[in-house]
Amino acid sequence: MATDFTEETAADAVIESFGPDTDPRLREVLVSLVKHLHAFASDVELTIPEWEKAIDFLTRTGQKCDADRQEFILLSDVLGLSMLVETISNRKYGVATESTVLGPFHVVESPVLELGANIDQVGTGTPCVVTGRVVSVDGSPLPGATIDIWQANDQGFYDVQQPDVQPRTNGRGLFTADGNGEFWFRTIVPSYYPIPTDGPVGEMLIATGRHAFRPAHIHFIVEAPGHRPLTTHIFVAGSEYIESDTVFAVKKSLVVDFEEVTDEAQAAQWNVGKTPFRHADFQIIMQPGS
Ligand code: BEZ
Ligand code: FE
Repeated sequence: MATDFTEETAADAVIESFGPDTDPRLREVLVSLVKHLHAFASDVELTIPEWEKAIDFLTRTGQKCDADRQEFILLSDVLGLSMLVETISNRKYGVATESTVLGPFHVVESPVLELGANIDQVGTGTPCVVTGRVVSVDGSPLPGATIDIWQANDQGFYDVQQPDVQPRTNGRGLFTADGNGEFWFRTIVPSYYPIPTDGPVGEMLIATGRHAFRPAHIHFIVEAPGHRPLTTHIFVAGSEYIESDTVFAVKKSLVVDFEEVTDEAQAAQWNVGKTPFRHADFQIIMQPGS
C-alpha cells in the first residue's frame, strides 16, 4: 500500500488495495474503471466544486428512480453507453438483423394476438400494415417464431404514459409467425417523441444544447427456437430526428420505408378501413445460438 499519495500514484494505490480473493472479472473491471476515472479527473483537472456538482447530479439521478422510472438507464442512454454495451454484446453476425436498445417502455405484457390483428385500440393516426418474415441466416423460414411489438401512438406517447387517454396495452401485441415464418399486423404510424426530460438527464440535455427526441420507431423482441433472441426496432424512413436520435440507437439497416398505399383492393384485403394507408415490409434474420 502506498504511503505517499500523489497524482501519479493515486490509481495504483487504489488498485493495490484490492485483496487477493477478489473475483477475477470484478478485478479486471474495477482496475480499468479506476484507471480511466483517475485519468479523466487528471485530464480535465477536476475542481472540488465540479466534483460536488457531479455528486449532486448523480444523487438526484438516483432519487428520480422508482418502479416506473429509471433515470440512471436514461443517463446511460443519452451518453451512448447503452448502445455501446448493446452493440458489444450483439456484434453483427453476417447478415443477421442488427439489435438496438430495449428502452424503458417494455413494462406491460403484450396481449397475445392473431396475425392481422390491429394493435391500435384508439383509431386515430395514419393506418399502417406491417408485414414481415422471420428467417435464419441461411434464409430458411422460422415458423412459430414469436414477435413481441410495442410502439408509441401518433402523438408520441406510450400507453403507460397516458393512462387516462390510452387503454393499457394499446400499441402492443405478441404474434406468432405462421408456417412460412411470416407475420402481419395492423397499427398506426408511430410518431417521434421526446424521452422524459423532467429530471437531471433533461437538465444535462439542455446544458449541452441537445434535443430530447427519438425518431419514430416500432420495438420488436423476436424469439425462435435454436436462435439468439433479438431486441430491435424498425425506424420510419424520413422521420424527424432519424439522423440525431438522442439515444444513438439508429442503425441504417433498421430504417424501413413506410410506403403510402392508395389501392382500395389492397385496403380491403388487409382489412384497413381507409386509404391512403402505409405499408412497411421487412425481413428479420435470426442468428443461430441461444
Ligand atoms: C424507447 O425507445 O422506448 C426509449 C429508449 C431509450 C430511452 C427512452 C426511450
Ligand atoms: Fe420507443
